[in-house]
Amino acid sequence: MLDLATIRLGIVGLGYVGLPLAVEFGKKFPTIGLDINATRIRQLQAGTDSTLEVTPEELRQAEHLRYTHHVEDLATCNVYIVTVPTPVDEYKRPDFGPLIGASTTVGRVLEPGAVVIYESTVYPGATEEVCVPILERESGLRFNVDFFAGYSPERINPGDKEHRLTTIRKVTSGSTPAVAEFVDALYRSIITAGTHRATSIRVAEAAKVIENTQRDVNIALVNELALLFNRLGIDTEEVLLAAGSKWNFLPFRPGLVGGHCIGVDPYYLTHKAQQIGYHPEIILAGRRINDGMGAYVVQRVVKLMNQRRIAVMDAKVLILGLTFKENCPDLRNTRVVDIVQEFCDYNAHVEVYDPWVDAREAQHEYGIETIPELIPGRYDAIILAVAHRQFREMGIAQIRALGKPASVLFDVKYLFPAVEVDGRL
Ligand SMILES: NC(=O)c1ccc[n+]([C@@H]2O[C@H](COP(=O)([O-])OP(=O)(O)OC[C@H]3O[C@@H](n4cnc5c(N)ncnc54)[C@H](O)[C@@H]3O)[C@@H](O)[C@H]2O)c1
Repeated sequence: MLDLATIRLGIVGLGYVGLPLAVEFGKKFPTIGLDINATRIRQLQAGTDSTLEVTPEELRQAEHLRYTHHVEDLATCNVYIVTVPTPVDEYKRPDFGPLIGASTTVGRVLEPGAVVIYESTVYPGATEEVCVPILERESGLRFNVDFFAGYSPERINPGDKEHRLTTIRKVTSGSTPAVAEFVDALYRSIITAGTHRATSIRVAEAAKVIENTQRDVNIALVNELALLFNRLGIDTEEVLLAAGSKWNFLPFRPGLVGGHCIGVDPYYLTHKAQQIGYHPEIILAGRRINDGMGAYVVQRVVKLMNQRRIAVMDAKVLILGLTFKENCPDLRNTRVVDIVQEFCDYNAHVEVYDPWVDAREAQHEYGIETIPELIPGRYDAIILAVAHRQFREMGIAQIRALGKPASVLFDVKYLFPAVEVDGRL
């Protein structure tokens, strides 16, 4: 079995998860970071991380880390960590394309004795059922005889400067007891918060996917309560604050559930469930509620506009924030686009402003042209969709001033007190 003194790491996929990992390992061990995106590699070689997760100073500290987009450069490695995306397709089915691609890449350079660790979020069984057979086929080596596997899911939270890779306890696992020990020791060498060694790869896979499923279902419950309390004429946040005074009431808030994790991972679990003939009810009910929140927000705003005799058709609507969460530039699977789309269906003129977003990316991903600056007195309705600190700093008066005198201000994120806005979840 390998020991830490002789490892040469290859990290495959340098995104939100892979780059911080490569940087941490690159401070200690010879590490090669591979990404198929040549632009990403060029930017990293020039010392900048466009995801804003790693500072130029931190990049410099990783003195044993090299970046490449040439697969052959991985051939010298003996431990691989795969951190590629695991999205869903248009039918919400797992899209294993990136994982298959990365496993093919690693399989082609795999040498006897190597360990391949997966970090991408999948359903229980995927590593051994989907990825390992590709490694075997491409390398001609035998699993658990010539090469080994591990699974260690990532728990980072983009934009969160407090819970970082090294300060979040990490689940580890391996395909044999000795490999499990090796994988655990590898992560213990960088994770100051310690590790939790799961009893098998499938247990570790299941643990990750239910962490996000649990969040999704809990948010769905609170979203459902928000729909109900609105009909009852009660402010949801006031109820949540009151209930939250009990020690074991969980502090979830209503909202859009986007991003490539919480709104996506449950579909991996439900896919596997359906494959074995179990039809999940609660998980999919939660998904349905959460996916309907964008349309619900628009319905509420349209009602408020009607009450003020503002015609929705041709109205000017400002959406503040496009990213899937606050204070980060991540646009993946943002559900703010549902609000934009719904207003467009009403033939309203929607303008989107987000100081965190790369305008070209918004155009490329969603066909949305973000506006470069805010113009006061222009809008019939304003929706605070993302709680970026810039919007909080602007304050309610400045935000109100963007609207026409009778305009509607709707706060999806509880950025301001209920009495200061016209509606909220
Ligand atoms: N971002 C998060 O907060 C987070 C947290 C926990 C878990 N995860 C999981 O981690 C995995 C990776 O997520 P991410 O946010 O880092 O994704 P990402 O899209 O930010 O990065 C993935 C990178 O992999 C590269 N890539 C894709 N296919 C490749 C291939 N075949 N070879 C080499 N590089 C390839 C892409 O170019 C991209 O740079 C996903 O399964 C995700 O669900 C993400």
